[in-house]
Amino acid sequence: MCGIVGYIGQEQATPVLINALKKLEYRGYDSAGIAVLDSGYITVRKAKGRLRVLEEKIATEVIRGNLGIGHTRWATHGEPSDINSHPQTDVSGKIAVVHNGIIENYSKLKTWLENNGILFRSETDTEVIAHLINFNYNGDLLAAVIETIKKLEGSYAIGVICENEPDRIIAVRKDNPLIVGKGDGENLIASDVPALLEYTRNVYYLDDMEIAVLYKDRVDFFDEYGTKHGKDFSRVDWDISSAEKGGYEHFMLKEIHEQPKALANTLRARIKTYASKAINLDEIGFNSGWAKAERVVITACGTAWHAGVVGKYIFEYFAGIPTDVDIASEYRYRNPILNPDNIFIIISQSGETADTLAAMRMAKKAGAKIIAVTNVVGSTLAREADLVMYTWAGPEIAVASTKAFTTQLMCLYLIAFQFGLLRGEITGDRLEKLILALENLSGQAEKILSDEASVQRFAARQFNKTKVFFMGRLFDYAISLESALKLKEISYTHSEAFAAGELKHGPIALVDNDTLAVAFCTQSELFDKMDSSIKQVKARGATVLVITYEDEDRFNSIADEIFRIPRTYDELTPVLSVIPCQLFAYYCAVQRGHDPDKPRNLAKSVTVE
Ligand code: AGP
Repeated sequence: MCGIVGYIGQEQATPVLINALKKLEYRGYDSAGIAVLDSGYITVRKAKGRLRVLEEKIATEVIRGNLGIGHTRWATHGEPSDINSHPQTDVSGKIAVVHNGIIENYSKLKTWLENNGILFRSETDTEVIAHLINFNYNGDLLAAVIETIKKLEGSYAIGVICENEPDRIIAVRKDNPLIVGKGDGENLIASDVPALLEYTRNVYYLDDMEIAVLYKDRVDFFDEYGTKHGKDFSRVDWDISSAEKGGYEHFMLKEIHEQPKALANTLRARIKTYASKAINLDEIGFNSGWAKAERVVITACGTAWHAGVVGKYIFEYFAGIPTDVDIASEYRYRNPILNPDNIFIIISQSGETADTLAAMRMAKKAGAKIIAVTNVVGSTLAREADLVMYTWAGPEIAVASTKAFTTQLMCLYLIAFQFGLLRGEITGDRLEKLILALENLSGQAEKILSDEASVQRFAARQFNKTKVFFMGRLFDYAISLESALKLKEISYTHSEAFAAGELKHGPIALVDNDTLAVAFCTQSELFDKMDSSIKQVKARGATVLVITYEDEDRFNSIADEIFRIPRTYDELTPVLSVIPCQLFAYYCAVQRGHDPDKPRNLAKSVTVE
C-alpha cells in the first residue's frame, strides 16, 4: 500500500533511498520515485514499473545530495504511470512530497486549488498536498505542513522536503504507519522497519497526527498544533537476516519454512511448567473476571479473518462461549450489537489494516475489552488496543500471509484453552494434553515441510487447472477458505472454498473434467460425509486431492493424490493442514511464471479502504 522513505545525513541519499525502497517493495510496486536535494535544488526521478526500472533509469547519472525522499507505489488515484508516481511536487518544483494513504477530500481541495490558478499534472490525491504546502509556505516548512494537515481528510503518512530548507525533512502520519530511524549523524523515515535495519535499530514510532522534523543530527517532535515534545526511541531486536531471503528464491517460501520455528516462538514464553504444564497469559491480563464475558467477537480481514473463522470453532469447542466472527470491512458499516461484557479479539499481521483498525475503534467506543493479536510491535493496532498478544512470527514480507496465519491460530488456541479452563470446559489434565499437542505442532510442521517435493510435483501436474475447489467441514472448511485465498492471490487460478455440505446446494454445478477438488479430511466424525462429497465430485469428472492424516487409509481408493499430515487432535489440524496448501499455491504460482512475493494488484498491508 505504498512505501515511503527519507534520508538526511552524511551519505549520498540516492543509494540509501533505493536500498531502503527495496525493503518496502512488498508494499506496492507499480511505480517508484525519488527526490534528492542538493545546492538548493531538488532533482526528481520517477518511473512506472518495479523499482528496478527506476534504478535502470538513473544508472548512468549521478544524483548528488545528502537529503532525499523516496516512494514505491500501489496506485489508488490515477493509473500507474511516470507522471502519477511519487514524489509529487508543487508548481514551482520547490516542494516535494511522498505519501502513503488516501486524501478523501482531495477533489474538493483540487477544485479549490484550481480556482486559485493551480494547474494539476497528475491524477493523484498526493499532488494536492504539495500544492497546499506551497500555498501555506511563508518561509517555514513546518508551519506550512501544520497548516496543510488541518485541511486534509483521510489517511496519510507523508514525507516533505523543500529547496529553501536544505537541512530538514518533515514527516507526519495519520492512520498510516511511519517510523523514524535515529542514526549516528543521520536520520531516516520509513513505512516499515526492514527499510531501516541496515542503518539503525533505534526507532521512533510516530503517533497519529504527530510530526517529526529530521535534521542530520537530531529529530524534533511536535503535535499537530506545533507544540514540541520529547519522545523515547525503541530498540528493534530483529536480526537483519529475518528481513532477507536467506537463500530462498522468494520470501514466501522462506516464510512457509519458518513456520516450525515461529510456532515454537509463539508458544515459548506462554507455557509454564510448575507442577504440571500451564498457560500463562499475563500479557493480556487474563484473569478470573473473564468468566463473566458473554460473548467473544473476532474481527479481521483476509487471511487474518480466516484465522478468526478457525477461532470461532476453537472458542465454541474448547471454551463453550458464543463466538461471532466478522469481516472488518463489513463490521464497520453494520450496526453491531456490542456491550462491555464482550471480549473483542482483533487479528492483524501488520496491525495497520484500515478496515480492521476502524472496527477496533468502534468496539472500543462501545466499551468492549479489546485484545489485539498482531505480529508487528509498535503497530497502530498494538498501540490502540487495550491488550496485545504478539504472534512473534518475525517479519512477514511476502504479500501472501503464511507464518502469520499459523501463529495467529496458536495465539487463539492459547486464549481459548485458558478460557475453557476458567469456564470449567477443560480439566487440568486435558489442558496438559492439549498443551503437549500444541508443543508437538512445530515438529509436525517440520515433517510436512520435509515432503515438500511431492507437493511441488503435484503442482507441476495441476498448475494449469482452470478451477480449483477446496472443501471441508468445520475446521476443514475454515482451512478451505484460507487455501483458496492463497491459491488465487498468487497463482491467479480461479479457486473457491465450500463447506462440503453446501456442494449439492449449488457449487456442484461448476464441477467438470477441468476441476481440481481439494478435500480436507481431518474431522474424523465427518469422514463418511466427506467420502460421499468426494464421490459426488469425482462422478462429475473432478481430479481429487485429499488432505488427511498420515495413518488414515480410508480415502486411498478414491483420491487421485493424498497429502498427509501427522496425527493430532482433529481440532488442532488447521495449523498443519494449511501448510501443504501454502506450498501448493506457491509452486503453482512459480509454474505459471508469476512472482509469488509480488502478486498483481495486491499489496502487503492495506492501509486504505
Ligand atoms: C493474505 O495472504 C492477504 N494478502 C491478505 O488477505 C491479508 O491477510 C489481509 O489484508 C489482512 O492483513 P493484516 O493481517 O495485516 O491485517
